[in-house]
Amino acid sequence: MRTERELHVLSYFNALLLLLLLPPFLVSPLTPPFACDPANSSIQKLDFCKTTLPIDKRVDDLISRLTLQEKTPQLGDIAPAIPRLGIPAYKWWSEALHGVSSWGRGIHFNGTIHSATNFPQVILTAASFNPQLWYRIGQAIGIEARAIYNMGQAEGLTFWSPNVNIFRDPRWGRGQETPGEDPTTASKYAVSFVRGLQGDSFSGGRSPQLKTSACCKHYTAYDLDNWKGNVRYTFDARVTDQDMEDTYQPPFRSCVKEGQASCIMCSYNRVNGVPTCADYNLLSKTTRGLWGFDGYIASDCDSVALIYGADGYAKSAEEAVADVLQAGMDMNCGDYVQKYAISAVQEKKLSENDINRALHNLFSLRMRLGFFNGNPIYQDLGNISANQVCSKEHQDLALEAARDGIVLLKNRAIVLPLSRSKVRSIGVVGPNANIGYKLLGNYGGPPCEVITPLDALKSYVSNTRHVAGCATTACASTSINEAVKLARSVDYVIIFMGLDQDLEREDLDRVDLVLPGKQQRLISSVARAARRPIILVLLCGGPVDITFAKSDRRIGAILWAGYPGEAGGLAISQIIFGDHNPGGRLPVTWYPQEFTTVPMTDMRMRADPSSGYPGRTYRFYTGKPVYRFGYGLSYSTYSYEFKAKAGSRIYLNSSMSLQKTTSDNQSYEIKSLGSIACRKLKFSAVVSVKNHGPMAGKHPVLLFSRWPTVEHGRPMKQLIGFKNVHLEAGQRINLMFSLRACEHLSRAQSDGTKVLDKGSHFLIVGEKEHEVNIIS
Ligand SMILES: *[C@@H]1O[C@H](CO)[C@@H](O)[C@H](O)[C@H]1NC(C)=O
Ligand SMILES: *[C@@H]1O[C@H](CO)[C@@H](O)[C@H](O)[C@H]1NC(C)=O
Ligand SMILES: *[C@@H]1O[C@H](CO)[C@@H](O)[C@H](O)[C@H]1NC(C)=O
Ligand SMILES: *[C@@H]1O[C@H](CO)[C@@H](O)[C@H](O)[C@H]1NC(C)=O
Ligand SMILES: *[C@@H]1O[C@H](CO)[C@@H](O)[C@H](O)[C@H]1NC(C)=O
Repeated sequence: MRTERELHVLSYFNALLLLLLLPPFLVSPLTPPFACDPANSSIQKLDFCKTTLPIDKRVDDLISRLTLQEKTPQLGDIAPAIPRLGIPAYKWWSEALHGVSSWGRGIHFNGTIHSATNFPQVILTAASFNPQLWYRIGQAIGIEARAIYNMGQAEGLTFWSPNVNIFRDPRWGRGQETPGEDPTTASKYAVSFVRGLQGDSFSGGRSPQLKTSACCKHYTAYDLDNWKGNVRYTFDARVTDQDMEDTYQPPFRSCVKEGQASCIMCSYNRVNGVPTCADYNLLSKTTRGLWGFDGYIASDCDSVALIYGADGYAKSAEEAVADVLQAGMDMNCGDYVQKYAISAVQEKKLSENDINRALHNLFSLRMRLGFFNGNPIYQDLGNISANQVCSKEHQDLALEAARDGIVLLKNRAIVLPLSRSKVRSIGVVGPNANIGYKLLGNYGGPPCEVITPLDALKSYVSNTRHVAGCATTACASTSINEAVKLARSVDYVIIFMGLDQDLEREDLDRVDLVLPGKQQRLISSVARAARRPIILVLLCGGPVDITFAKSDRRIGAILWAGYPGEAGGLAISQIIFGDHNPGGRLPVTWYPQEFTTVPMTDMRMRADPSSGYPGRTYRFYTGKPVYRFGYGLSYSTYSYEFKAKAGSRIYLNSSMSLQKTTSDNQSYEIKSLGSIACRKLKFSAVVSVKNHGPMAGKHPVLLFSRWPTVEHGRPMKQLIGFKNVHLEAGQRINLMFSLRACEHLSRAQSDGTKVLDKGSHFLIVGEKEHEVNIIS
């Protein structure tokens, strides 16, 4: 293993090299763009520059000074400067999915700062089931972003991350970007990441100034990119009220209500016939009305143009522009609104008030970021300096996230961990084992440094040799003989297979779930030839059907490492050699290849036995998965017990006599119970967890609930809480889950209304169940 010090020396040399190569003017920081220069008294005296006034007032003042010709250009993602008022240009589009990214337009890695910490792709980070970790990652990214801005390398700090769409179908190319298939996990991820990125505390409240702005996307029911000719730009997602309420909307609701996100992005697709960016009900009524959203709503890039063009929903460009601005969208990624807003006003389809409404949200946001407070160097966040980017702390966090996410899927006869002193030689097979950027996934930035799995393994066992085996990850052609020869000659074989961005990504969904090309043949041949059972490491975002490997006794261990980010090679090696005890658990169901007969376009979550539709995700899928949601082994064994019967009975009799029941009298409508009664209906579950050894480890404890029946679309089970605990070998701990009946035990009916069933509910941890009774 490479020591911490060696790694530092390495990154130091990289930095030094870059410094020497760059012309000197690039190294000195530039002035970040800002409005309201205190040195300019004629600007400084304008009301919109007075930081003592409330933002609403300042924005009103600013908008009142603008002409229509100055206003409409502000409605696109490239907002030009307004020189007569000292307002600089602004670039709304930047990305920070798992580290400050070079995607988008606002961030430039061409100055003092030329890289940023690249955390694991989100699907792997989700597998830690650790909200504190998700928060710390958001926080680290926010700090790096501010440093980049302070160095004059950012023309905006509005990041269009996270992607919290439900990973509904295993073929989705962007599933890798999401926290998985479960609404509770996705909601918690959204809240934690957004609070970290925006600079709020973990638990609540809102800081007076945004550190950066986060954006929950893609609102809503967006999870198909390009599958068999169905493309996201025209796809009409037909979604039931029930699925909308308990699957597609929860991450967005939490993102806004608890996460206090300052942006939502409406998606490309239609939902039940209406393009989401033109849906007043979704944008204004739901987010602003019901959820209290007070940020800005961005369109996905060019999705307004599609409403008239590809989608054919509107009859003219002006109508499309009027539709979206009147629905509540504020900013168009692209220039379509910029182009057609004035003619829409002239045609009286749009009023200047509609434009002012949008501008209000946009300028408020820029003020909340502090960009109208004068030179940021003299403000609170102005002291975040370049050395906080790629700091040791952040790089260690990237390693921690990779280690905590990686899932041990198989460990037959305890093949792992390998003992360093006993392994004299390793054969590494796989086309990606020695290619750093293949670890990063999409929407990344230039990483601080990447250690490939091959290099990391060499640092443990110097006699480590590599054969690609396949020319590319697609593995159309193999060099099986060469790989077999290597396998015969070494103590252990570690084979890196899976997918890459040529096989799953934005705009590219898969049509198969099995490993691509001749990967399976290569794996099996190597496994047959090797002296001992081999170790299979899967690098992929979406799940793969590896049934053959599950049952092959010559494949001793299987690890799923997602796209583990810049520190992923090291994390994998540390797990293989027992320097870290794996604890990650799958955030998505691994389906068998048969699942590909299900049309990806079918948005229904619930199974329909009459037509053979199997349903989706662990909550509804009636088939047998290859690996289930929440699956993951460890080098230790853990056991659970429910403690204390205190939370076994919940009485509804206190103030419920007037409450509305459902027609069968078996359930209460949550809405009619009201928030006061709902607050009272809290209970707790105490779970005792023991690590039976032999190693200390971090372990996510997942708490599910289920109903006595699955009638009326009740999920088979539903994750209601989780905690990640560190336990020494032999240690036992009691974990308390604070639960509220209205939130955690309720369900959506077919019309989308939520109800609480009387009678039995069951809490589940591992194999253990605990009954909770709701008594009226
Ligand atoms: C103050 O700002 C205005 C608008 O940008 C500009 O026209 C003017 O020259 C500035 N004055 C000084 C003293 O810099
Ligand atoms: C960095 O790139 C941006 C965008 O291309 C450009 O506007 C800027 O001038 C560049 N900065 C330097 C120092 O080269
Ligand atoms: C920056 O300043 C703030 C207060 O103005 C302070 O809390 C923070 O610790 C400072 N950060 C650094 C890196 O100096
Ligand atoms: C509710 O019912 C329980 C059990 O019957 C009883 O102990 C309790 O006093 C009742 N509470 C109220 C407010 O009626
Ligand atoms: C509903 O429950 C109440 C109270 O238990 C009972 O009095 C009533 O008859 C029930 N109604 C029906 C339709 O079952």
